[in-house]
Amino acid sequence: MRIFHLSAECYPIAKVGGLADVVGALPKYQNLAGLQAAVVMPFYNRKFVHENTFDIVFQGTTLLGTRRIYFEILKEQTDTLGFELYLIKVPGLLDRENVYSYPDEREQFLAFQICFLDWINWSGQTPDLVHCHDHHSGLVPFLMYHSNLYRRLAHIPTVFTIHNGQYHGAFGWDNLHYLPEIDFYKTGLLDWNGGINPLASAVKCCWRFTTVSPSYLQELSISSNGLEYLFYVERDKGVGIINGIDTDVWNPETDPMLPEHFNATTVAKGKQKNKEILCERFGLSADKPLIAFIGRLVTEKGSDQLPAAIESSIKEHGDKVNFLILGAGDSATEMSLNLLKQLYPQNCNVFIGYDESLAHLIYAGADFLLMPSRVEPCGLNQMYAMRYGTMPMVRSTGGLKDTVIDFGDDGGYGIRFEQVTVADICVSVTRAVVLYKDTRKMQTLRKRMMALDFSWDRSAKEYMNLYESLIPKI
Ligand code: ADP
Ligand code: GLC
Repeated sequence: MRIFHLSAECYPIAKVGGLADVVGALPKYQNLAGLQAAVVMPFYNRKFVHENTFDIVFQGTTLLGTRRIYFEILKEQTDTLGFELYLIKVPGLLDRENVYSYPDEREQFLAFQICFLDWINWSGQTPDLVHCHDHHSGLVPFLMYHSNLYRRLAHIPTVFTIHNGQYHGAFGWDNLHYLPEIDFYKTGLLDWNGGINPLASAVKCCWRFTTVSPSYLQELSISSNGLEYLFYVERDKGVGIINGIDTDVWNPETDPMLPEHFNATTVAKGKQKNKEILCERFGLSADKPLIAFIGRLVTEKGSDQLPAAIESSIKEHGDKVNFLILGAGDSATEMSLNLLKQLYPQNCNVFIGYDESLAHLIYAGADFLLMPSRVEPCGLNQMYAMRYGTMPMVRSTGGLKDTVIDFGDDGGYGIRFEQVTVADICVSVTRAVVLYKDTRKMQTLRKRMMALDFSWDRSAKEYMNLYESLIPKI
């Protein structure tokens, strides 16, 4: 079964968040399970493309609105990532450094989708199934089934995975001319609330859609930035499949980004060593519990509550707790965090920016990882943390709810709280500080977390069952 995954991000080529981790791992595990899964993504002018060799496997021109664009499909020569990797290059549009935030982002992702369809339409590279991820490839199902140009593709099943239902990629009907020739009787399938909405269109047109955790599937019909009714109506088409993690990349025994390797048996010593190196770098004491946060500083992640919660906790526990934050995003939050660092240099430090190897060191060296997310479709950080023996402190939502059991409950190992408020975060900090003193219990819980299986094997199988249920329908 030949599958094409379509995504804006894929680790290690270009990563902004968890979407990249998932698309960089799932196809590898699908291939190990006997599928032929490939990734198709935009070309980015980044380290990976300079360090690897590519063949141009297709060249063509296509229309983007009134503009004729030239494109190339590049294939990485050795399948070094465990899957075939195809990059779509459009000079001047899809050959830039960053993934998002260009003023012509709409044209970029439309070009990505149209060039993909042109390529598989004209090259004979027909897959058995197309698997689209998030709104950047959300118009593909509609175009495959309702554009005269792509009639040859209309029998191919599509699966659409929602990693983040807050972003829809919507734009006005005045941009309709950017789309290839379509069946005008079907324009309702593009529409939501008076605009062209790629996320909504994908949910309507794909054969099945998935969310990255079962709880998130339920939550979308309660809160999804205006698409609640759509998710309610289409609920039978949806299935929640929890993400896995790439246990080759995220392995404390072999992780090349860690100064000290460890496993469940050596976790106490191994974590302490990493913690000492981490604390020394950030001017913190390694004798206190270290609570970390890693992630985008955006309201979805509840990071706006961090400065006040950290300050209250430091005031409450005096010198008995340390915080370390790694992230970038909202400038007001960045400023408040930097201010905290100046006010409490002994207890709090902040690294504003993106740093993959520092993230690995924090997962290994911290004692607790705080995730006060308002929305968390799956969340990978908590799974990385647990694999590195770090206890997650999570708000009960989405994938956090599906992967973390409170240590107060049977078989539990984490800390859960209900509200994204300073009060709830502070209570969970107090629980962490008290628990940290109980060395034996901490040790038991660390071993329990490290024994959990978050590998892709199970989830990859669930995707495979889903694909298999669609293929006979052709
Ligand atoms: P999301 O995709 O919503 O940002 P996830 O938990 O799924 O959240 O994935 C976040 C991924 O991005 C993890 O691999 C995390 O380690 C990484 N990450 C987030 N922010 C940073 C940062 N500032 N530096 C390094 N890695 C980061
Ligand atoms: C999104 C979600 C995150 C999820 C990731 C990978 O970025 O915000 O919760 O883990 O996608 O599916």
